[in-house]
Amino acid sequence: MQKLIIDGKKILSGSIKISGSKNSALPILAASILNKQTTIKNIPYVNDILTMLNLLKFIGLKYKLSKKKNSVEVTNLDKKINTVAPYKLVKTMRAGVLVLGPLLARYGNAKVSLPGGCAIGTRPVDLHLFALKKLGAKIQIKNGYILASAPKGLKGTSFRFPSISVGATENVILAAIKAKGVTIIENCAIEPEIKDLINFIKKLGVKIKIKGRKITIIGSMKEKKITHKIICDRIELGTYLIGGALTAKKLRLKNVDPKLIKSEIFILKKMGVKMKVSKNYIEIYKSSNIKKINIKTAPYPGFPTDLQAQIMILMTQAQGISKIKENIFENRFMHVPELKRMGAKIEIRNNIANISGPCALTGAEVMATDLRASVSLVLAALIADKRTKINRIYHLDRGYQDLEKKLIKCKAQINRV
Ligand code: EPZ
Repeated sequence: MQKLIIDGKKILSGSIKISGSKNSALPILAASILNKQTTIKNIPYVNDILTMLNLLKFIGLKYKLSKKKNSVEVTNLDKKINTVAPYKLVKTMRAGVLVLGPLLARYGNAKVSLPGGCAIGTRPVDLHLFALKKLGAKIQIKNGYILASAPKGLKGTSFRFPSISVGATENVILAAIKAKGVTIIENCAIEPEIKDLINFIKKLGVKIKIKGRKITIIGSMKEKKITHKIICDRIELGTYLIGGALTAKKLRLKNVDPKLIKSEIFILKKMGVKMKVSKNYIEIYKSSNIKKINIKTAPYPGFPTDLQAQIMILMTQAQGISKIKENIFENRFMHVPELKRMGAKIEIRNNIANISGPCALTGAEVMATDLRASVSLVLAALIADKRTKINRIYHLDRGYQDLEKKLIKCKAQINRV
């Protein structure tokens, strides 16, 4: 298993090109099942994308991926289609469950492995199944698989999600665009990645409107040769913004849309972080006397759970006690024991992390547990005294393209061994 060796306390400067959004590319790749010829640009070259492409290939689609151009062409000629998403692919990447809606919509049946849990939580899919049943799907759970069928096709309907789910919203949108009649869904997730998916679907001729948390879909998509450019990855952007606030003389983050991270920028400015926000880049500077702050993670437009581990590192350098309430996942503080081994002063009481600062961190051997926890260990290592060794960095490779290359280019001292 590969490790990252990081020598901390280097002053970073230079520029980083932010990649396309993993969490936008995954549902859009699943949506390509519904279309014959789809070209997707600004796709991040990360392992979760490769896993999703393997899943599409297993189902019977063809793809041509260009790492250099960060683009992929997906073709579905409806030849030898296998409407199955096997456990071996879905267990490593839960977003594999997103093929359920499109397979059901196009072929009237699907056999998709239950994703199973992961480090951050049990990751149930009950809301996905609740929504597909509303469209008339017959759902059975057998031997760890979801068996879904809709022999007479899916029927438009109106319903409200009992709670907000990004994946369930995406799955039901991808099913409803081939349903007969109108579908109105209330209490939807409205992350920028969902709006990107909606913009993609509009290119298939679907009338789809989003107002507040209500999405209205007037089905009947038409197959077309389409091209779509994925939005920038707002979580990667937020990660490097926090990295810059911790270490950079001047760090320019390029290829971005600052409108996607308004709440994060507001929080960072409230903490006293200095930055210059332009139309398609943000410049960030190491800031002294960082102020403490209390945040709680929430569905968009609230503070994203995917940046919770990262902002915690900035809080270790703030004056006083900052608090984080993690409201989305039941077990998303796995980075805390590792950070405490680096000297961080963090106490967790009923799902609220209390972070005392400013606190000098020291290098140590630590272990990554999930994608965002591992990148928070990288941020901690960048400001820690001496050397940090991070194990199990395959977690990082799932969602950050060329992480050490991007940081080394800005004078960080990192080696992958
Ligand atoms: C998406 O996961 C993202 N993944 C996650 O990013 C992100 O943390 C999450 O949304 C929240 O923003 C992708 O987009 C591929 P949810 P998803 O359904 O769709 C519960 C990363 O690091 N729930 O919005 O799985 C669930 O347990 C990943 O890039 C149910 O109870 O998240 C959680 O507590 C990690 N039943 C909450 O809802 C369901 O059927 C939110 O989950 C579905 C979810």
